Amino acid sequence: MTSRRPVVAGNWKMNGHLELADQLVEKFATELNSDAVEVVLCPPAVFLSDLSKKLEQNRERLSAVELGIGGQNASALEKGAHTGEIAASMLKAAGCEYVILGHSERRAMYGDTPELVAEKFAQAKANGLTPILCTGESEDEREAGKTFEVIAQDLEKVIECNGKQAFDNAIIAYEPLWAIGTGKSATPEQAQEVHAFIRGHLAKIGDVDADTVRILYGGSVTPDNADELFAQADVDGGLIGGASLVADKFIKLCQLA
Ligand code: G3P
Repeated sequence: MTSRRPVVAGNWKMNGHLELADQLVEKFATELNSDAVEVVLCPPAVFLSDLSKKLEQNRERLSAVELGIGGQNASALEKGAHTGEIAASMLKAAGCEYVILGHSERRAMYGDTPELVAEKFAQAKANGLTPILCTGESEDEREAGKTFEVIAQDLEKVIECNGKQAFDNAIIAYEPLWAIGTGKSATPEQAQEVHAFIRGHLAKIGDVDADTVRILYGGSVTPDNADELFAQADVDGGLIGGASLVADKFIKLCQLA
């Protein structure tokens, strides 16, 4: 039995609305009632302040739930003439405790290189945010036997830029690109194999107690497959996309973690 508190984080991506937040608050208050799982809501940035206020207004009703909010990205820069960018300090000011960094969609479409992600990681830590570092391989990389190599590079770049204790107070999310949004999740065995590698590699290259680092699985997680995935020894919960936009499904995933 690990001492790691599981995390279920909802990555709304460029979707959702504040009515969903209302639905989730109601369900957390009436159907979760437990701090055995750390719940993170990551809506589009424009909703963060309102969501933070909503959680504050419902603080009493949510007192039994360990619930926080996070951004989906943050700038690698502190501030300045960077149109459209959002600074880690601004996420913090909006009530965030977490920030997703290096999501495969940002790596693929918005220029998030391992170096840039490592710099964003530094800004997040410097501003008191817990990074949720995403890493994962493409179908081609898996078929070429490069899964561990790809993931190791991401972890090593973060440590190179942030020091050996980088993953102290950080979360890692393993998201195989071929499972994101496809309805085809990794098998529990595939997830466990990669999570065990991540934990072992952290122990080798970092100066952290790798057994305390939460490693989430992401990629087509649903209430139908979460039980087996979350039961794996090195799977500490999930980073949820599509299912986080449906209150009934997301609360079920929080109950299963
Ligand atoms: O960040 C989580 C996301 O990439 C997973 O998406 O829709 O496959 O759960 P989904």
